[in-house]
Amino acid sequence: MKGKMEGMFRLDGKVAIVTGGMGLLGREFVKTLKDAGANVAIFDKQVKNYPKDFEEVLREKNVAAFETDVTNKKSISESLKSVEKKFGAAEVLVNAAAIDVPPNYDAEALLFENYPEELWDKIMEVNVKGIFLCSQVIGTAMAKGKGGSIINVSSIYGEISPDQRIYVKKDRKEKFVKPIAYSVSKGAIPSLTRYLATYWAAKSIRVNAITFGGVFSNQDKEFVKNYSSKVPLGRMARSDEYNGAILFLASDASSYMTGANLVIDGGYTAW
Ligand SMILES: NC(=O)c1ccc[n+]([C@@H]2O[C@H](COP(=O)([O-])OP(=O)(O)OC[C@H]3O[C@@H](n4cnc5c(N)ncnc54)[C@H](O)[C@@H]3O)[C@@H](O)[C@H]2O)c1
Repeated sequence: MKGKMEGMFRLDGKVAIVTGGMGLLGREFVKTLKDAGANVAIFDKQVKNYPKDFEEVLREKNVAAFETDVTNKKSISESLKSVEKKFGAAEVLVNAAAIDVPPNYDAEALLFENYPEELWDKIMEVNVKGIFLCSQVIGTAMAKGKGGSIINVSSIYGEISPDQRIYVKKDRKEKFVKPIAYSVSKGAIPSLTRYLATYWAAKSIRVNAITFGGVFSNQDKEFVKNYSSKVPLGRMARSDEYNGAILFLASDASSYMTGANLVIDGGYTAW
């Protein structure tokens, strides 16, 4: 029984693509899928800057990084061709690439009243169109082949509004507001997921969303305290705490699950 349970979570010989795979969580997903036996391809806009300890992962035979812009269909198609040549047909796609507030953006400009149209477009382009295009290119290849599993990464701010009272920037005099576009972009993901889940069910492609709460990454102490007080488990997530869910959704352990939204947020949205 133990063997059967473990086998359910294995991905031996399968090919997985992780968009945003050079990022904080993407790197965790790459390691997790690789350790489960998959050949893992990273599709990221930048493949040169990463923490020292990730170098070892990138050097492994079953991991490869492809510089890819998820907002550009040609770039995705070219990277997919390279993956197929190197590893074979993809059966897992994790859509994790996303952008939020650009660093050092003028806080005043992020207020809803002033929020710049071009920033709205940019965030929608990466966070929504990026998933549409990657699903179109990679999912279409899966539909012609053996099918697969697509996992779309969302955020609690796609479900609920940010509580603006917890956002503080000690180093700034202005009020910092968590801006609108990220929330709206993440709100689109469960519906995009349900559409594709039903559209491609007959082609053996499962499509699920995964909704994460905030991850601790040395944010302002006051913000961390404020955020944690809103979480029933009393803290922000560690960057490795979503790996189990990624493996579950990527593998046969979730073979009867499609069109769902798995929420992992320490209980933030439960009260
Ligand atoms: N970190 C959190 O607290 C948190 C919470 C909830 C949800 N999420 C979601 O988890 C996912 C991963 O977040 P993260 O914290 O690892 O972010 P991150 O900023 O560390 O990583 C995002 C990655 O996406 C890449 N990227 C950006 N634009 C791209 C493009 N056009 N084409 C290809 N790659 C591009 C970046 O280069 C980066 O490597 C995102 O979807 C994010 O919204 C994160």
